[in-house]
Amino acid sequence: MTGPREHIVRVFRNADELSRAAAEGITRRADRTVRERGRFTIALSGGSTPKILYSLLASSDSPYRERMPWGDTHFFFGDERHVPPDHPESNYRMAHEAMLVKVPVPTENVHRVKTEKPDASEAASDYEHVLREFVDHDEGAAPRFDLVLLGMGTDGHTASLFPGTAALTEKSRFFVANRVAKFDAHRLTMTLPVINNAAVVMFLVAGSDKADVLQRVLEKRRDRQNELFPAQLVRPLNGEVSWLIDGAAATHLHLEG
Ligand code: 6PG
Repeated sequence: MTGPREHIVRVFRNADELSRAAAEGITRRADRTVRERGRFTIALSGGSTPKILYSLLASSDSPYRERMPWGDTHFFFGDERHVPPDHPESNYRMAHEAMLVKVPVPTENVHRVKTEKPDASEAASDYEHVLREFVDHDEGAAPRFDLVLLGMGTDGHTASLFPGTAALTEKSRFFVANRVAKFDAHRLTMTLPVINNAAVVMFLVAGSDKADVLQRVLEKRRDRQNELFPAQLVRPLNGEVSWLIDGAAATHLHLEG
């Protein structure tokens, strides 16, 4: 058991270069994991930043499509909005259109959250069973993803773990319906016990609007309520965290070297 490792921070000129680096890292890790253990489990992030990455992985013009072991990769979602899977705000729809529909991944390897269920808690509980069934974990431990992709909002949220929300303190359930007041809605989200049990967590952060919160998060500052930002709570005990950021988001960082 290794202790918490330092976060790896890599700055790229723009979102395209950031996405290429992410595709490089994901496909190499997937290829190696499948060779070693026969399959690769990845939790996809939502929002807009990962769209370029997903399109790049699916593109027949890129080396990543060929390298990715699609048939042995299982795709999950780190969080989801409580909307139907064909809704414009659905993270599943975004990943499906940008990547999943274009690549030879078996349908049964794509595990979406059944958000058509009217009860958000039921949809979350249903998905928790999926995680328990499909994702490796030691007896009694949280599922251990090979890789969890995350983004970060301007308030320091990640997945759908928003500041001041109940899901932030969830210690036993792995996937919950999280009431987010500012949306007056539930978001469905993976909890920290799962995220912090991942082998690799990869944050993708781009855009000048993230520069202020990114500096606070990486330089271990706290928010106005003197709380840690949700993204700061991502500290896998036995896994590595890498931050892939673009120059615009890195504006306020004081990076050595
Ligand atoms: C979501 C995401 C969320 C996202 C951040 C950043 O469902 O929206 O999981 O955590 O990663 O809000 O979003 P952008 O990439 O659009 O800035």
